[in-house]
Amino acid sequence: MENVDLLIHSAAQLCVVPAHNGPQRGAALGDLGIIPDGALAAHQGRIVATGRAADLRARFRATNEIDATGRCVLPGFVDPHTHLPWSGDRANEFEQRLAGATYMEIMAGGGGIMSTVRQTRQASVADLVADNLPRLQQMLAHGTTSAEAKTGYGLDTAAELKQLDAMLALDAAQPVELALTFLPAHAVPAGYSGRTDAYVDLVVTEMLPAGAAWMRQHNRPLFCDVFCEAGVFDLAQTRRILETARELGYKLKVHADEFEGLGGTALAVELGAVSADHLVRTPPADIQALGRGDTVAVGLPGTPFGLAHTEYTPAGQILAAGGALALATDCNPGTCWCESMQMVIALACRYMKLTQAQAVAAATLNAAYAIGRGTEIGSLEAGKQADILLLSVADYRQLGYRFGTNLVEMVFKRGQRVI
Ligand code: NIG
Ligand code: FE
Repeated sequence: MENVDLLIHSAAQLCVVPAHNGPQRGAALGDLGIIPDGALAAHQGRIVATGRAADLRARFRATNEIDATGRCVLPGFVDPHTHLPWSGDRANEFEQRLAGATYMEIMAGGGGIMSTVRQTRQASVADLVADNLPRLQQMLAHGTTSAEAKTGYGLDTAAELKQLDAMLALDAAQPVELALTFLPAHAVPAGYSGRTDAYVDLVVTEMLPAGAAWMRQHNRPLFCDVFCEAGVFDLAQTRRILETARELGYKLKVHADEFEGLGGTALAVELGAVSADHLVRTPPADIQALGRGDTVAVGLPGTPFGLAHTEYTPAGQILAAGGALALATDCNPGTCWCESMQMVIALACRYMKLTQAQAVAAATLNAAYAIGRGTEIGSLEAGKQADILLLSVADYRQLGYRFGTNLVEMVFKRGQRVI
């Protein structure tokens, strides 16, 4: 008998969600690798083996044994696109939108992202930590064990670095592991209105180098992201920012095609970005590009839902082109205040027309690839980090089908029970 820290056994279904030598692409999306009467052994935070309960119980003795009878076991969800951390809220703007104003009209009038920028600039690092810890706690309780977080509510060098410092403190303060993104090109701040190129100059000459220095100082990698959108940063400005970022050692992400398709997705593929996100109005040529490159397409169905729009990421077309599709919340105070990947799965099944199996693989393995961590997290394969969910139900197909309540009963992060 081998001694291990953790043995979860007798699961009605144990979903391995195996990597396909990378993410699950195109028609291959939805391979959950289900083991009935399944078991998993983990030691020192890593998965040692998965298999049939009878086999693993004969092989391993564990300090912590969990009987998962009648339960489904899954990899922890990975949320590869959030806008944590921020301060304040915009419930007033939601009320304006219900009365007919559009998101971009509110933004053009100085509200929207700039409203959260004003609130976030006033917050200290300690305030940001206090405001955002409960959100991370909700994410964890709903099964998210790793997430991405972005700046973008500072929009000046000091306030953007303050958001990075807050992310580092939040990462250390609770179990959800954070991948960090620098997004100084999230909006054109007051003082630069009508002078977007002057702000882009500031981004490339001062802000990106400051972020790169922060990376070296803290020995933490950063993604650089840009909101490539009509009326915000056009394709040429996006290219300038991303090419500069790449030279400075950032990995890349792009907000593309949320409201209009400007070519941001094809640019992301061309520059070797790790992901291109939103992709609601993606031109056909850009969808084909996703099939040829390694950039993961991240669908954020909570965002059109949050905006009460009717167009969603065309998942069928992306998969038909052979693309790798992931899901994320976009959790932010403007378009989609939602911490739950379970809710995102429910929306993706209905409006992106994914099966539950496709949505689960997109929210775990492929989502891990969307933050460049696919070889470490996102599946229950031996050698990977033991980030594990136990659902209160026996069948993974309850995910997506049911919504609005929490089906996650236990969460393990690096083999430790955290919920
Ligand atoms: O992904 N599109 C830009 N950023 C966010 C919204 C952020 C906000 O409104 O505060 C998004 O939808
Ligand atoms: Fe976003």
